[in-house]
Amino acid sequence: MKIGILGTGSYLPEKVLTNDDLSKMVDTNDEWIRTRTGIKERRIVAENEATSDLAYRAAEKAIEDAGIDRNEIELVIVATMTADHATPSTAAIVQDKLGIRASAFDLSAACTGFIYAYTTGYSFIKAGIYKKVLVIGAESMSRVVDWEDRGTCILFGDGAGAVVLGEVESGGFIGSHLVADGSGACELIVPAGGSRKPANIEAIQNKEIYMQMNGREIFKFAVKVFPETVENVLKQGNITPDDVDLFIPHQANVRIIESIAKRFKQPMDKFFVNLQKYGNTSGASVPIAIDEANKEGKLKKGDKIVIVGFGGGLTYGSILFEWSK
Ligand code: COA
Repeated sequence: MKIGILGTGSYLPEKVLTNDDLSKMVDTNDEWIRTRTGIKERRIVAENEATSDLAYRAAEKAIEDAGIDRNEIELVIVATMTADHATPSTAAIVQDKLGIRASAFDLSAACTGFIYAYTTGYSFIKAGIYKKVLVIGAESMSRVVDWEDRGTCILFGDGAGAVVLGEVESGGFIGSHLVADGSGACELIVPAGGSRKPANIEAIQNKEIYMQMNGREIFKFAVKVFPETVENVLKQGNITPDDVDLFIPHQANVRIIESIAKRFKQPMDKFFVNLQKYGNTSGASVPIAIDEANKEGKLKKGDKIVIVGFGGGLTYGSILFEWSK
């Protein structure tokens, strides 16, 4: 049985925060942010919205694009590091909003979350447990960012992307590679708000409820592991970088993507980039990019696509698949 993407959807909150807006909040400027990251603006979730609201809207669009009855969905997976609550899962909230009966759980692998979730959804179908799985990446990064830390707050944004996985006539999933290296946990961490350190007054005063990141280390890590994981899935598919029609990488920093294009001797137009509009939306970045590439007509039936994630955990991974729509 061939298993692939039946439909895609995404949702970005309306509020736009530009680099110029940020320069009024912290000591930074548009030129610095653009040249160091490629980011021009990002979206910010509304005060009365949470991650499940973004996820739900992206899911509605993916179901519509797939042209299926929503009741056919048997499992909802939400990849997120900014869940609405510690419990219940964001996925259960989305399942309820969709008005369907389905199993639902969240998956935590930060910016690699969607790659893990896609592989998980695929595996459930391959094992014969479910026929159609809704896989969502959704984040409200603005809720965990320290808006006084110019080293991190300029990078992140909010949004959601979703795909419906199911049986396809041709193409679909070819190979997946997932890695975790917990020894690098402290390089990208929200120290408080979990069982290690509750979000008490001390944690709030020390700003430990916000994300802390070692930008330079993460940059080096990304440039090292990105080619490693891509080479792994290309080998599984017995193809070379020249055979790939489109790379859809995690949208963290355009300099990371450029260095990989150079390394693989591939033109930049084979790498989908939309981080200038949305910044780094963590687990949402890859499914948002897949949806935009789909809606912009950049994906043709039979195209070989590689999606790549890297980030907190530390985690990284990629999937090679053939576009079947
Ligand atoms: N505006 C202006 N100046 C800034 C700044 C900002 N927003 N942030 C840092 N600077 C300053 C630094 O203080 C430093 O000044 P100094 O030389 O006087 O000490 C200088 O700019 C260079 O800082 P540095 O950290 O070396 O910059 P960089 O080129 O490494 O770029 C990042 C910083 C964060 C953009 C880059 O490291 C990065 O993208 N890392 C990966 C982060 C990431 O993708 N995380 C998510 C992974 S999923």
